[in-house]
Formats: sequence, C-alpha cells, structure tokens
Amino acid sequence: MAIVRNGKKSAKRTEKAQELDLIIESLSHEAHGVARHESKVVFVPSALPGEQVHVRLQKQQRHFSQGQLMRIDQASEHRVEPSCPHFSRCGACQLQHLATEQQLPHKQDNLHQQLTRQLKITDIPWQAPITSDGLGYRRRARLGVRYRKQQDEIIIGFREEANKHLAAIDTCPVLEPTLNALIVPMQVCLSQLQAKAVITQMELIASDQGSVVVLRHIKAIQKDDRLLLTSFAQQHACHLYLQGDDTLECVYPETETALSYQVSGFDLEFQVKDFIQGNAKVNQAMVDLAGQWLDLKPNETLLDLFAGIGNFSIPLASKVKSLLAVEGVGPMVQRIEHNAKRHNISNISAMALNLADEELLFRLPKADAILLDPPRTGAATLMPWLCKQKSRILYIACEPSSLVRDAKPLLEAGFRIEKITVMDMFPQTKHVESMALFVRD
Ligand SMILES: C[S@@+](CC[C@H](N)C(=O)[O-])C[C@H]1O[C@@H](n2cnc3c(N)ncnc32)[C@H](O)[C@@H]1O
Repeated sequence: MAIVRNGKKSAKRTEKAQELDLIIESLSHEAHGVARHESKVVFVPSALPGEQVHVRLQKQQRHFSQGQLMRIDQASEHRVEPSCPHFSRCGACQLQHLATEQQLPHKQDNLHQQLTRQLKITDIPWQAPITSDGLGYRRRARLGVRYRKQQDEIIIGFREEANKHLAAIDTCPVLEPTLNALIVPMQVCLSQLQAKAVITQMELIASDQGSVVVLRHIKAIQKDDRLLLTSFAQQHACHLYLQGDDTLECVYPETETALSYQVSGFDLEFQVKDFIQGNAKVNQAMVDLAGQWLDLKPNETLLDLFAGIGNFSIPLASKVKSLLAVEGVGPMVQRIEHNAKRHNISNISAMALNLADEELLFRLPKADAILLDPPRTGAATLMPWLCKQKSRILYIACEPSSLVRDAKPLLEAGFRIEKITVMDMFPQTKHVESMALFVRD
C-alpha cells in the first residue's frame, strides 16, 4: 500500500503543487521506484523500495506520473554508493545504487508479478537463481563515439538514460577489465586521427585470443589514420576491425585469426558480428542448468531453436541421439556446422530458417525436447507450432514480458511450468534473463 507521508489529502505540495513526499513501494521493470499518489502510480528513477523521498512531478499522464527525485529523506538500508563515477549520467546501468545481492530478488519479484497478474498462476516453481559477479563481468559492449568539433575532443560512452545523448565515460567497471582498460587509450588514439568524425561506434569483445575492437566508420579511412589505428592495436595487443556500411575488415593482426570462447570445455569459434552471450560465467551456468532441466536421454532428439553459433547445441549434443540447431542468420548456421566438425561431433545438423515466418515452420521436425532462446521480442509466431508439440520445452528469455506473453498459449494448450529461474546476466542493469521449463502432464 502506498503511503503518502502526511496522508493523502495533506500531501506536502510546493506553491506549484508539483512536489510530493512519497514512500517507494517497489521497483518497476525499468528499475524506477514505484509509489502511489491519489490512486495514480508515480515512477521515480533512482529511488529504492522503502525509501521516503521528496519528488517533483514531471510528466503527468492519465494513469501515471513521472517524478524527479529531489531528496531522499530516509534511505533504504540496501542503498550503496555506485561503484562507477558515471552512473548518474550514463544510460547503461540503472541499479548501481542498490546492493548487488538485492538486485536479483527484485528482478525475480518483477517477473513473479507479471506471471501472477497476467497468467493467473499462483504456485510458481521458483528455483535457485544464477548469480554473477557484480562488476567486471561483461565481455561484449557497444559504445558510441562522437567528435565534438567545438571542443575538438572525442567522447566515448553509452547513451544517457534520459535524453539519449552520449554520456562521456573514461571507465566502465562492469566491463571485463581488459576491455575497460582500452577505453581511454582508444579515446586518445581517435583524437589523433585526421578524420576524427569518421568513427561513430566502438564495439569491445573479450575473446580467448584477446580483446577485440570493432570500429564503425561512416566514410573511408585514409592511409595515415589506418597506420595510427594499426599501431594502437599492436601496442595494446588487440584485434582491430573496421566496419563500414557493408564491409568488415580485419586491420590487425594482418592475417585474421579465428576468435573463440569457451563453454563446457569446448572452444566455440565466432565472428565479430555473431551473437555471443554477454556474461561468460552466467552463460556457463545457464548451459549447465539447461542440460540438467531438460534431463536428456541418449535415445532422444533435441531441437535447439535460435541456436546462434551453437552455444547450447555443442555442449548438449553428447547427451542425445541427434540434435537439430535452427538459426536465422546463414553465416552463423555455417559456424554451428564448423564448430561441430572441429569437435568431431557428428550428431548435430544445422538449418537456416526464419522462425518468424509461420509459413516455414512446417520444416521443423518433432523432437523429444525443444530449447528456444529467442531475441528480446520473443517467439510469438512460433507459439502455435510449439503448442501442438508433446516435447519438453525449455524457454530462455532475455525479456520477461516476452516470456509471459509466449507462456500464455502454452499454458492454455496444456503445458505447465515445471521449473523457472532468473539469471543475472547483466548485474547493475535493469535487464533480467530467465529460463522456464514447460512440460505436459
Ligand atoms: C538471444 S540469441 C541466442 C543465441 C544462442 N542460443 C546463444 O546462446 O548464443 C538469439 C538468436 O536468434 C537468432 N534469430 C533472431 N531472429 C530470428 C529468426 N526470426 N529466425 C531465426 N533465428 C533468429 C539470432 O540471430 C540469434 O542468434
């Protein structure tokens, strides 16, 4: 129940009647504090549950308002000093002011609320969550780069939460330390280019072969600038790629070497445009748990949908008779086949298929177990086909609302959730990944 400090009618207001004292009830899925005032929800960014806060109302909509946090009168015992100096301006993390161990319970609670409200299920079989180190975990990040002509300076950073402008950073503590260490030297290097405004984005990836930097450019890069970039890559022992509108070029090392990461003792080769999971430790725990929950048998078949480069397929193949990996991006399908071949795995086949095209789904075979790991938008088109299956279905979700929406037809078709958990793939951020096992009785 929302509490307005001085009671509903006597809520303290400024002369403009736009300031309120509120108590924060919960956190929204955007990681904003949620309070209530005169039966309207008030979202307060940066406020935490249990806090007494003084708020200035900003946006006022019919059913909710947005409040700016002006003062914290009583702070939550779980409020901590953000470990990043850029937290207040940078849009990438939303939860650094909440103790790391308190973040996941809030994320689980959020998913719980959505499941109970929208699916009307009460007994949710929550399992132990997959946790993560709070900092230094992120092995891939895309940062914006901008040249400020007036100041003659290059800034690198994430987009600011509020206005989508680039917030300049010189450190990002959630990045793997080897990646974080590249931000300032790269800023210095880009400042020395003749064509400073040409680079608009920098992607950082940690691979087993070392750090990878992918620079997105909007015009051709001339010889002198290339030399500077190559010497940067040499000096920092990183792989450097230049990405144009339709081009991707490895600038250093001179002979491009394959990149890979480890999962379950397999090294999986990937290329820089391929999807890879952002947190290596959580990825490993997730793949292990997927294998346990699916409880695969040697005479069974497994369908791995939205398979990427085989992150689940390669580790799980030895548990089944045969496995079909389905992925929409053709080159990644080739990577699955290549990774299987390198590891002498002969029971995997891979298929390129657009799983959002319902007319193509007849090509999917039946299987004893199905694992699906769709993008944020979920797998709505696939649901009618999945509902007709008898398989055990493991759904990996990077967006809770997509999981809840897609779970509805499965439950209506006679599946039930046997197990569900949350995974802290991205601590300090609002993002929550989850995994649910659906079975028929
Ligand atoms: C969240 S990633 C998961 C990848 C992989 N399971 C992993 O763990 O690395 C989603 C994958 O779905 C693929 N994808 C997205 N839309 C698709 C579609 N319509 N049809 C098939 N695959 C699609 C993407 O290319 C990406 O590889």
